[in-house]
Amino acid sequence: MTAGQATRAVTGIKPTGAPHLGNWVGMIVPALELARSHQAVYFIADGHALTAVRDPSELARRTREAAATWLALGLDPERELLYRQSDVPEVFELAWVLACSTPKGLLNRAHAYKAAVDANLAAGRAADDGVNAGLYGYPVLMAADILLFEAGAVPVGQDQRQHVEVARDVAAAFNAAYGPVLTLPEPVIRPDVATLPGLDGRKMSKSYGNTIPVFAPPAELRRLVMRIVTDSRGRAEPKDPGACTVFALYRLLADPAEVAAMRAAYLDGAVGYAEAKRALADVLDRTLGPARAAYQGLLADPARIETVLGAGAARARALAAPLLDRVRAAVGLGPRFLRGGAARPP
Ligand code: TRP
Repeated sequence: MTAGQATRAVTGIKPTGAPHLGNWVGMIVPALELARSHQAVYFIADGHALTAVRDPSELARRTREAAATWLALGLDPERELLYRQSDVPEVFELAWVLACSTPKGLLNRAHAYKAAVDANLAAGRAADDGVNAGLYGYPVLMAADILLFEAGAVPVGQDQRQHVEVARDVAAAFNAAYGPVLTLPEPVIRPDVATLPGLDGRKMSKSYGNTIPVFAPPAELRRLVMRIVTDSRGRAEPKDPGACTVFALYRLLADPAEVAAMRAAYLDGAVGYAEAKRALADVLDRTLGPARAAYQGLLADPARIETVLGAGAARARALAAPLLDRVRAAVGLGPRFLRGGAARPP
């Protein structure tokens, strides 16, 4: 990385489902905050989704939705870079080179693969049943996403910490073999939102089915908030704000003065759970209403999304070219005579 240049921040959204509040406060908001002090390189990881999504039109639709999500929640494509992973073939090229210096055992230990194996064994199936080689290589592709742009910082949710650590190990293995070519990235994880509780109080996660989608219509949002599990304390009983999912969500979204007032009302037994839930639903409406409208507007105009992604891909490819040249030279692969039209950076 050139001296004086801001460190780059790199992160991606895998387009496999509707984004939920945990994704928003745990990853998207921190990533957009980091973009103020870093050169942001943000993308939609459609290649990663391909390990799980079989329906081509679903993958394309989910990818557009993820792009609209980034844009509706505040990514400015003039300032931050936004692209679709599959528009930057340099990523897949680097992934192969990295795979060739990555110890296979490193991938055996990756959470997603291990979880699939454990589930198979528990169900009496063969260890690798239903596991495709893409799922196995998932951490290498993610390392390529990160290392291609010489990222210093990788803003992610807690669930992605191991993947970023694997990316460091992948870079270190490459550097040990070929010299100091790759930059070792650091995960950036917000401790206060590392585990946002879901409707049932467990960590909000698609796999638990306890999420609140960011762009749910207002009535749906309200219905979900009313379903949040609380204890059975009555309105007049003092309540522990630290042990309540409703408060945990409210704390992250409401203004500091509102949060202080709600905390006092909990402690004093001056608010019932139904009331607190209504207050939370109001805050959700207020904070997400405009973004929801922007999201719908973008989805109604796919050509606009494609224009943004196309411009982002051209810039991303230009940014990636020098590092890929150095990697190819380091390992002894030929120079890239055909650059697929990617411009060189200024
Ligand atoms: N694996 C991430 C997820 O499931 C998505 C992702 C792909 C990513 N490549 C990345 C995140 C690179 C950070 C950096 O959400």
